Amino acid sequence: MPRLLVVHHTPSPALQAVLEAVREGVALVDEVDLAVRPALSAGPADLLAADGVLLGTPANIGYMSGALKHFFDTVYYPCLDATAGLPFGVYVHGNDDTAGALRSIERITGALRWKQVAAPLSLTGAAGPTELEAVRELAATVAISL
Ligand SMILES: Cc1cc2nc3c(=O)[nH]c(=O)nc-3n(C[C@H](O)[C@H](O)[C@H](O)COP(=O)(O)O)c2cc1C
Repeated sequence: MPRLLVVHHTPSPALQAVLEAVREGVALVDEVDLAVRPALSAGPADLLAADGVLLGTPANIGYMSGALKHFFDTVYYPCLDATAGLPFGVYVHGNDDTAGALRSIERITGALRWKQVAAPLSLTGAAGPTELEAVRELAATVAISL
């Protein structure tokens, strides 16, 4: 069964609600194994065991969180060759401006040659029903692509 790895930094209740919506979205798809790992603990073994990845982070000072950056620092060279073409999706949550964070993720996933299989999801402010539905849809889209 294909395995979807969710690498997330979840430092607040709003982001926890988003992460729960990710689980709900993946649960809509049959025959996909889900592995959920905090970005500060995920490493090359998690990534190499995955058939696709969903990245989730808050925007922090116009960039991805330090936690997600740490994940990329950890996996970049060990996984550079083996993960070329890896399907991925991404969500970023911020107060008002996620553009820099999304750009930073685009840049590093481009260097890794991963394949984006769903539109990046930018969430700002409180995550209401509409936003959480968009998160479920993102997670399901990435899961279906595996
Ligand atoms: C150090 C720090 C830097 C932040 N930088 C940004 C930023 O550049 N853009 C943005 O939209 N939000 C920024 N935020 C807000 C966080 O993205 C937000 O707190 C996080 O997504 C959690 O959402 P919540 O506070 O509504 O629970 C920042 C928060 C912190 C603590």
